[in-house]
Amino acid sequence: MTINVAILGCSGRMGRNLIQAAVDHQHITLIGGSVRASSSFVDFDLGELAGIGAIGQKTSTKINDLLAADVLIDFTSIGSTLENIKWCQQHNKALVIGTTGFNEEQVQVIEQAGKDIPIILAPNTSIGVNLLFKLIEITAKAIGDYTDIEIFEAHHRFKKDAPSGTAMKMGQIIADTLGRNLKECAVYGREGLSDERKPDTIGFATIRAGDIVGEHTAFFADLGERLEITHKASSRMTFALGAMRAATWLAEQKSGYYTMQDVLGLTSLN
Ligand SMILES: NC(=O)c1ccc[n+]([C@@H]2O[C@H](COP(=O)([O-])OP(=O)(O)OC[C@H]3O[C@@H](n4cnc5c(N)ncnc54)[C@H](OP(=O)(O)O)[C@@H]3O)[C@@H](O)[C@H]2O)c1
Repeated sequence: MTINVAILGCSGRMGRNLIQAAVDHQHITLIGGSVRASSSFVDFDLGELAGIGAIGQKTSTKINDLLAADVLIDFTSIGSTLENIKWCQQHNKALVIGTTGFNEEQVQVIEQAGKDIPIILAPNTSIGVNLLFKLIEITAKAIGDYTDIEIFEAHHRFKKDAPSGTAMKMGQIIADTLGRNLKECAVYGREGLSDERKPDTIGFATIRAGDIVGEHTAFFADLGERLEITHKASSRMTFALGAMRAATWLAEQKSGYYTMQDVLGLTSLN
C-alpha cells in the first residue's frame, strides 16, 4: 500500500529531512508541503528545499492545497500545530505531530482530537529513543529499587533548555515505575561538599558542546557493577525516518490518540 503524505513546516530543519525521508520511502508519495505566506520559500520545489534536486512538487502557503494527503506530518510550532489539528478534524485527515512543548491543557486538546481522527503525539520520533524508554522501564522494575539511578544527556551548544525533554521523560518513566515523585527525588547537578548520595534520588547531569545531535544514558549502578543504557543520535534523519514509520502505521488506524510506543508495538511489552 502507498499513502499520500504532506509535510507542514517543510522549510524547517526537520521539514527538510522529512522531505528527503518521504521521497526515499517505498510506500509514501509526497504530495506537498506548507510554508508560511511570509516565507522566502513560497512556490519553491520541495526537492530543492531538501537539497536532493527538483521533484516537481512546489511548496504551498495554504493547507487547503494539501487535501490529497492521507496523513499530514507536522513539525512546526505550538500555535501552528493547534490550528492544523482543527483543519485535520474538519477534513478527516490523520496527523502525526512532531512539534514539542505542549502544556497539559494543549495535550488534552490533542487527545480529544483522537475522537475524530487518527492522531499521534510524538515529541521524540526516534525509534531508538522510544525503545530506550521501554528498556529503562523494564530495568527500573527489575533493579531500580536497589541501584543508584543517574541520567546523563549531551546536546549541541545551541540548545537552550536543560535537562532535555527526553532526559526528563526518562526520569518520569523511572519515577513512575518505582512509585516515586520525580519533583521530590530529582537532583540536578552537584557541586562542592554534600552528604552522601540518598538512595531514592534520581540524578541528572547535562553537557552542552559543539554539534552533538543528542545523547542520553540511564545508569543503574550497584557496588561491583553498573548497567548503562545509552542512545546516541547522529543526525536529524533518525527523527524523520521515525515520523515516516509513524505515518505509514497511522494510515491504517481508526480514529484515536496514539504515541510512538503504539507505533512500535511496545505498549503491551512488559
Ligand atoms: N518529534 C521529534 O522527534 C522532534 C525532533 C526535532 C525537533 N522537533 C520539534 O519539531 C519542531 C520543529 O523543529 P525544527 O528544528 O524543524 O524547527 P524550525 O527549523 O524552526 O522549523 C519549524 C518550521 O515550521 C514553520 N512554522 C512555524 N510556525 C508556523 C506557522 N504558524 N505557520 C506555518 N509554518 C510555521 C517554520 O516556518 P518559518 O521558517 O517560516 O518560520 C519552519 O519552517 C519543534 O517543536 C521541535 O522541538 C521534534
